[in-house]
Amino acid sequence: MTDRRVFLQIPGPTNIPPRILQAMNRPLVNHRGPEFEALMKECLSGLKRVYKTESDVVIFPGSGSGGLEAAIVNTLSPGDKVLSVRHGVFSERFGDIAAAHGADVEKIEAEWGRAVDPAQVLDRLEKDAHGSIKAVLLSHNETSTCVINNVEAIGRGMAELKHPALLMVDAVSSLAMADLQTDAWNIDIVISASQKGLMLPPGLAILSFSEKAWEAYKTAKMARWFWDIKRMADAQKQGRVPYTIPTSLLFGLREALTMIEAEGLENVFTRHTRLARGVRAAAREMGLEVLPPEEEASPTVTGVKIPAGIEWTSLNAALLEKGVVMGGGLAKLQGRIFRLGHMGWIFETELTGILATLESSLAGLGYKVEAGSAVKGFKRSAVI
Ligand SMILES: Cc1ncc(COP(=O)(O)O)c(C=O)c1O
Repeated sequence: MTDRRVFLQIPGPTNIPPRILQAMNRPLVNHRGPEFEALMKECLSGLKRVYKTESDVVIFPGSGSGGLEAAIVNTLSPGDKVLSVRHGVFSERFGDIAAAHGADVEKIEAEWGRAVDPAQVLDRLEKDAHGSIKAVLLSHNETSTCVINNVEAIGRGMAELKHPALLMVDAVSSLAMADLQTDAWNIDIVISASQKGLMLPPGLAILSFSEKAWEAYKTAKMARWFWDIKRMADAQKQGRVPYTIPTSLLFGLREALTMIEAEGLENVFTRHTRLARGVRAAAREMGLEVLPPEEEASPTVTGVKIPAGIEWTSLNAALLEKGVVMGGGLAKLQGRIFRLGHMGWIFETELTGILATLESSLAGLGYKVEAGSAVKGFKRSAVI
């Protein structure tokens, strides 16, 4: 490939804005000094606004999976019963981490490519009259199947039922892109990571932690040291860290939060919603099938079924040649779908080109498509 701009349209890590790259490209500071203290405090207060929470937000060095593990080991004990809502690779991973630490995992399965029906979760909790279920593990946005869940209905429903279980939500691929109201929706722990909506390189796992989660922490017996959230939260409230954190990413995070606030968080959500709607319309206009139904489709990543006669490896190669990187299907969806990420720093102009490139790549592989249909579908539906 010639040295050209590459469009990283996988569902994270995402394209990093030059402003953020510049903010990170500077000498480090002492992570036990006053400059770091101010930086950490600014990051935490900005994150609380994005999380829509008054509770603690804690930043760990690590990836999203580490954040999922931190949520579990800080609140549960071996043998605790948890409800794992599963309909894709990442929601399964959350439950599998709990099982690896000795939790008694009860599964609620939904079809891959569909959102979970909130009633399925709430009915199960209603039957649990003695409160034996200690936690509900749920993905907000299941990145592998490109589906978004109605977390609000589950969170509000659990509060109505007065069920004592903690609600833990994996928002790795939705935070700062889709509305998520940690406090208003009664979510105890929201887990996210740096490399998606926050437009940063990978390397930070971020968790919110409610009062109820802190109560659970007091009796939780799962082994932890690195992931001990109290040690980290206590230090971070003072603008310190108990061990080294990627300081450069915090410089980037502060810049990302400034960018999000300048655009307006709600405007960021609207941009993602509209662009995603446009991408789905473009796919349909090209005669392709989107995996989830329209009302369950993710605003951050679109899953499209690969048409008969086309191999993902050939489509991927054709796209790469033109500088566009998309994601393939994972696990049982491998070779059956491709995933176009539209996360973070992405606007109409780039997507217009990317969709036109997708169309020409498909046409080059023999797929019958009317020239211009991708952009036509996109423009019709992604009105910004
Ligand atoms: C919804 C979701 N959860 C968890 C993860 C795992 O995050 P990481 O790869 O940073 O460990 C991902 C990664 O794509 C994800 O999309």
